[in-house]
Amino acid sequence: MGRVAGKKAFITGGAQGLGACFAHMLAAEGAKVVVTDVNSKGAERTAAEIDAKHPGAAAFCHHDVTSREDWENALGMASEFMGGISVLVNNAGVGGWGNIETETLEGWRRTQAIDVDSIFIGTQLAMPYLKESQPASIINISSVAGIIAHGDMLAYNAAKAAVWMMTKSIALHCAKTGYDIRCNSVHPVFTRTPIIDPLVALGGGGKLGEDRLTKQIPLQRLGEPEDVGYAVLYLASDESRFVTASEFKIDGGITAQ
Ligand SMILES: NC(=O)c1ccc[n+]([C@@H]2O[C@H](COP(=O)([O-])OP(=O)(O)OC[C@H]3O[C@@H](n4cnc5c(N)ncnc54)[C@H](O)[C@@H]3O)[C@@H](O)[C@H]2O)c1
Repeated sequence: MGRVAGKKAFITGGAQGLGACFAHMLAAEGAKVVVTDVNSKGAERTAAEIDAKHPGAAAFCHHDVTSREDWENALGMASEFMGGISVLVNNAGVGGWGNIETETLEGWRRTQAIDVDSIFIGTQLAMPYLKESQPASIINISSVAGIIAHGDMLAYNAAKAAVWMMTKSIALHCAKTGYDIRCNSVHPVFTRTPIIDPLVALGGGGKLGEDRLTKQIPLQRLGEPEDVGYAVLYLASDESRFVTASEFKIDGGITAQ
């Protein structure tokens, strides 16, 4: 039996990077997964790769997380495919680079819409499904940028801090209401996915750019997607049944400084 055998996981932003890795790791431990993304081709590829290894375990759906209608369609399709939804991984997100003098209102709103509003819209719509499939787990992918700030990450800092606190509010509501639905946040540091390409480029590109990032991390390396995936696997499983409203920093020690 796998660590998440019988779980039914809905993962946003699964076309690449962390979301794709979570889907692979959860399926390898026995879960059924539905991978969604605005990049449908990428989501389809992730699901096909998983299905090749675990026949019948994965499906994909086109899904823009800023669209309420897309959420309704994707959740309905996923519930039908998996026979319910017991794990919601709110992973889709975008970075943002700009300070209080350079950030535009349009850029600010885009970051909040994709990184924050989506979790409000989607989790609210997912609640009836999660209530039907208790014990359930909501896993929100925040960032160390929700805990420590950078002068040029104004919108992203604000967005990821909002995800952190929203997580606790959702968790407390579920606990008080008596639902066996837990909600926790995960806070990765720079992890090797396409989202950090602009940061590596800003630091001079290639090894030079990576070194500028790793220098800030006490463990002296970038995170790998699996480093974050192990936290998601734990939170999706019943091993974490007494854990809610918590934050998991997968950060090589950076927030201790
Ligand atoms: N990699 C890191 O260093 C790092 C660190 C901290 C937090 N995070 C967070 O992890 C999450 C995943 O990031 P990643 O590193 O895999 O980045 P990524 O850019 O590789 O993947 C993000 C995915 O989200 C999808 N996406 C973007 N906008 C969307 C929308 N409107 N609707 C649906 N899907 C959309 C993209 O198509 C992409 O597949 C994000 O929330 C990110 O903020 C990443």
